[in-house]
Amino acid sequence: MKVGILGLGYWGPNLVRNFLSNKQITKVYGCDANSKRTDLISQKFPGVETFNNYDSLLKSDVDIIAIATPVDTHFKFAKEALESGRHIWVEKPFTSTSEQAKELLEIAEVKNLKIFVDHTFIYTGAVQKIRELIDHGELGKIRYFDSVRINLGLFQHDVNVIWDLAPHDLSIMFYTMPGLTPKAVAANGIANYYQHENVAHLSVYFEENCFAHFHVNWTSPVKIRRMLLGGDKKMCVFDDMENFEKIKIYDSGVEMNSKEKIHEALVQYRIGDMYSPKVNSTEALSLGVSEFLTAINENRNPLTSGYDGLNVVRILEASDLSIKKHGQLIELK
Ligand SMILES: NC(=O)c1ccc[n+]([C@@H]2O[C@H](COP(=O)([O-])OP(=O)(O)OC[C@H]3O[C@@H](n4cnc5c(N)ncnc54)[C@H](O)[C@@H]3O)[C@@H](O)[C@H]2O)c1
Repeated sequence: MKVGILGLGYWGPNLVRNFLSNKQITKVYGCDANSKRTDLISQKFPGVETFNNYDSLLKSDVDIIAIATPVDTHFKFAKEALESGRHIWVEKPFTSTSEQAKELLEIAEVKNLKIFVDHTFIYTGAVQKIRELIDHGELGKIRYFDSVRINLGLFQHDVNVIWDLAPHDLSIMFYTMPGLTPKAVAANGIANYYQHENVAHLSVYFEENCFAHFHVNWTSPVKIRRMLLGGDKKMCVFDDMENFEKIKIYDSGVEMNSKEKIHEALVQYRIGDMYSPKVNSTEALSLGVSEFLTAINENRNPLTSGYDGLNVVRILEASDLSIKKHGQLIELK
């Protein structure tokens, strides 16, 4: 298969490198409006042919177009790619609205084309291990998901910090809590420097007795990438800043012996062993590329498809509405 990468800024070169190293890929094209970016790619990867306008890429013989441009351009480029008969890889977040996501999904269904949304973290060894533990019932029922992703981050011109950072954590939430249904969203945030929020808190409420919270910040002096999954059997901490022990499983919990007479209830804490399972360290993007190509060959949706992209966008969209209304709860339709 032949692939064209549109957008060779910060993230696009990682896609070039990972598609180039996949044996199923026979040719990689690069495209960016900025000739400095295409020149850089030509120097670094001499086998990659480059263009400076999207029309030239559309006219080439590519089977797949990967879109790594700013979020507000994803829909336009993705629609043109699908309409020209190409499978698409779209960076997170999939689109700027859920209506756009649905439109792309409809076109892909009609044309039998595949959409891959780059929820990169799903392909990390850590997230795969967490899902495995959950599937084996090791953590029990998940009661809460609590995530912090903060540092001195790059401000995006077109989206706020929730749209930039939370897609990672929301995609992990959906993947590690299968079968649970989000029903409402509340968000608060502040824009200290320009029109988009740079610090925000997002809460997701579920139909089931479960809750998720996300703290994202581009203006934190410390870098934290940590999430907690509280199960009713065991608890899991995923710390992505750790080089080796990224996941720790705590055999700890709370037991309440009488829920009816709360004044008589005895809360007992169980503090048991902690262990850190080994996780696969293969680069997540290379596994994402393999999954997408396999899905195309097998004529099925990839593990992170346009439907997963839509689920995340629905929550992001609701968070915008909630922030405008100072944290009001927004029901998900
Ligand atoms: N999956 C991840 O972990 C991850 C990490 C970083 C960024 N991203 C996503 O990747 C996308 C790009 O982010 P970035 O940080 O690389 O942005 P960036 O601004 O560094 O790069 C975007 C590139 O797109 C090019 N571009 C813009 N409009 C164009 C057009 N009309 N035609 C051709 N080229 C055009 C720009 O010249 C620029 O080089 C975003 O959606 C972002 O959310 C994903």
